Amino acid sequence: MENNKRPASMQRITTPELANAFIEEQLGALQAKIGQKKVLLALSGGVDSSVVAALLIRAIGQNLVCVHVNHGLLRKGEPEQVIEVFRHQMNANLIYVDAVDRFLDKLAGVADPEQKRKIIGAEFIRVFEEEARKLDGIEFLAQGTIYPDILESDGVKAHHNVGGLPDDLQFELVEPLKFLFKDEVRVVGKALDLPDNMVFRQPFPGPGLGVRCLGAITRDRLEAVRESDAILREEFVKNGLADKVWQYFTVVPNFRSVGIQDGKRTFAYPVILRAVNTTDAMTATVEDIPFSLLQHITKRITTEVKGVNRVLYDLTPKPSGTIEWE
Ligand code: XMP
Repeated sequence: MENNKRPASMQRITTPELANAFIEEQLGALQAKIGQKKVLLALSGGVDSSVVAALLIRAIGQNLVCVHVNHGLLRKGEPEQVIEVFRHQMNANLIYVDAVDRFLDKLAGVADPEQKRKIIGAEFIRVFEEEARKLDGIEFLAQGTIYPDILESDGVKAHHNVGGLPDDLQFELVEPLKFLFKDEVRVVGKALDLPDNMVFRQPFPGPGLGVRCLGAITRDRLEAVRESDAILREEFVKNGLADKVWQYFTVVPNFRSVGIQDGKRTFAYPVILRAVNTTDAMTATVEDIPFSLLQHITKRITTEVKGVNRVLYDLTPKPSGTIEWE
């Protein structure tokens, strides 16, 4: 049984120097443990899996095999950034799996939020399993488990969705970040030269935009969520809000309303904006966004995003609302 308690002597990693010392120590430990063997990693492009990937690329180079599954529910630009940073800049051994149609076909007509989550999780494992079976000589599975995952659960990172691999595909785990808190992971990520928008990015749920495209997912509304989210993020960065607001995103419900655009009557979807602050995601307050910025974002979304004729701002704290809509 591996030790799952952070050593009392372990210093908090708050500076680049401490991060470099951690990296050096981990490189030695990883090389000693892995040797010339191969390691598999599901690389989502989130902070934790990206930092694990960057660390293992330094430690074992091409013997790390990263699998990036595009399930169609990622934010605009995310799969491209994973390919650019890891394949082109870090020369990683990266397998990119375009599973968009496969996920959207499985999700077609499914409106229940929990059912949607289950399908996304199960399909992810299936795709990852298929890729793993194509590879020879894999002995280890790397995971971006961090200390809060161990404290809050049984140590299996649920949203990485790789806990469910079948018995004949069980690998020894490699979890180099398992004693780190999130802020420490970010300091290590910076020291490993990962881009800021990867290291400091806001939390993003495992089922991705699937919980923000309400009811049964349709391609037109999914594109409306993705495009409106990209506009919101761009405006938050431009207006200095990206570092101040914990989580911000858009939601597209499955009803339409009457509007008028370019002198013509429309029957189109609304986009709901959400921007919240929290420390632990158990409660949350709504960010006081300048009204003029809300108006500017509304103008952009209603002119740039297809099939949208209204924009609403969600004023509800948690409780009574949750952060996500589903
Ligand atoms: P709620 O909506 O419960 O969200 O107030 C709290 C935090 O959890 C995230 N969230 C999820 N993360 N899988 C995830 O990995 C999920 O199914 C999921 N649902 C909510 C949410 O984005 C927020 O940060």
